[in-house]
Amino acid sequence: VKTTVSVIKADVGSLPGHSRTHPKLLETAARMLKEAEGSIIIDSYVTHCGDDLELIMTHTRGEDNEEIHKLAWNVFTECARIAKEMKLYGAGQDLLADAFSGNVKGMGPGVAEMEFEERGSDPVLVFMADKTEPGAWNYFLYRIFADPFSTSGLVIDPSMHDGFTFEVHDVIEKRKILFNTPEESYSLLAYIGAPSRYVIKYVWKRNGMIAASTSTQRLNLMAGRYVGKDDPVMVIRAQSGFPSVGEVIDPFRTPILVAGWMRGSHHGPFMPVGVCDANCTAFDGPPRVICLGFQICNGKLIGPADMFDDPAFNRVRDRCCELADVLRAHGPFEPHRLSLEEMEYTTLPGVEKQFKDRWEDIPE
Ligand code: 13P
Ligand code: 13P
Ligand code: MG
Ligand code: MG
Ligand code: MG
Ligand code: MG
Repeated sequence: VKTTVSVIKADVGSLPGHSRTHPKLLETAARMLKEAEGSIIIDSYVTHCGDDLELIMTHTRGEDNEEIHKLAWNVFTECARIAKEMKLYGAGQDLLADAFSGNVKGMGPGVAEMEFEERGSDPVLVFMADKTEPGAWNYFLYRIFADPFSTSGLVIDPSMHDGFTFEVHDVIEKRKILFNTPEESYSLLAYIGAPSRYVIKYVWKRNGMIAASTSTQRLNLMAGRYVGKDDPVMVIRAQSGFPSVGEVIDPFRTPILVAGWMRGSHHGPFMPVGVCDANCTAFDGPPRVICLGFQICNGKLIGPADMFDDPAFNRVRDRCCELADVLRAHGPFEPHRLSLEEMEYTTLPGVEKQFKDRWEDIPE
C-alpha cells in the first residue's frame, strides 16, 4: 500500500496584521488532525510560516482525495471562526468559498501532495513559505534536480545520471508541459525563469518515481481581485536516487529575490529561517521559508527536524538583510515594486480607477 503526504495550507487570520498565526489556531488545527488520526489520516503535524497555517498529513488515500481535502477545509473554517471571534487580521483571508465542494483546489488553500511506495528509508523535506508566490520554488528546484554544480550526486551517483522530468504549469493560460533534463535544460529555463507565470508543479525521476510536488494555486487569479499572496508549499524526497538532504537544502544558501513581501507587491530576498523565526516583521517580511525534515515510516511522520535552524544559514540571512536594505531604498520604485503587469493583480487597478477621468490625450 502506498503512502500519501499531503501538505495543505491557508491564511485564515493572523496577528498583528499579516505577521504570524495565533497559537490558538495552531492548537485547534493540531487537535482536529489528531482526532482524525487512525480514521481519515495516519499521522499529522501542524505548524505555521508567518500568517500561513500549515497542515502536514499522511494517509493512504492518494492525491486529491475528497475526505482529506474536506478535513483540511473543516480545520481551516473552524480556525477562521476562532480568528473572527478574536478579530484577528484577515480572518478567513484565503477561504474564497462558503462551502466545501469536493476538493480545496480553487477554493483558496494551497496544496502540495505526493503518493509513493515507501522505500527502505524515505527522507522527506517539507518547505513552507510566506510573503511570496508559487514560482519562488522554480529556482531551487532547478538547482536541486538539474544543476550539477549544486547537486554533486547528478555527477557522482550513477543512479541520477538519467536526470529528471519537470512538469511546468502556465498559470495564466492554464496549460502544462513536460521537460526532461539534462537534455532540455535550456528550454526548461526559458519558461521557469518567468516564475510569475510558469511554475514547476512536479519533478519525477525518469523512471516515474515522484521526487517533488508544489502548490501552484494563484489566489488573485482565482478570486479576480487582490486577496493576499498565495504563499506556497513544497514536498521533496531525498537520498537513494534522489538528491541527498544536504543537496536539497544547500541552494537556499543563495539569497535570491522573489515577488511578494509588502502587500504582495514587492520584490524581496527569500530568507531561510528556523520555525522560531517564521514571523514576518520588517515591511511585513522579508519573504521567509522554513523546512521541516521527516523520515516516513509506514505512513508515520518521524520528526520533524527544523532544517534552517542552523548557523550554516546565518550568512544567507545576513545577505538577505543587506539585499532588503538595497531594495527598500527604492521605496515605491521598480524593481522593488513589482512590474506594472504584475501590479494588475494587486491594488493598483483601484488607484487607476480614481484617475481615469483626469487623463487627457496628447495631440499627435
Ligand atoms: P555519512 O557517512 O555521514 O552517512 O554521510 C553519507 C553521505 O552521503 C552524506 O551526503
Ligand atoms: P499574506 O499573503 O501573507 O496575507 O500577505 C499579504 C500582505 O498584504 C502583506 O503585506
Ligand atoms: Mg495574511
Ligand atoms: Mg504524530
Ligand atoms: Mg501569508
Ligand atoms: Mg497569503
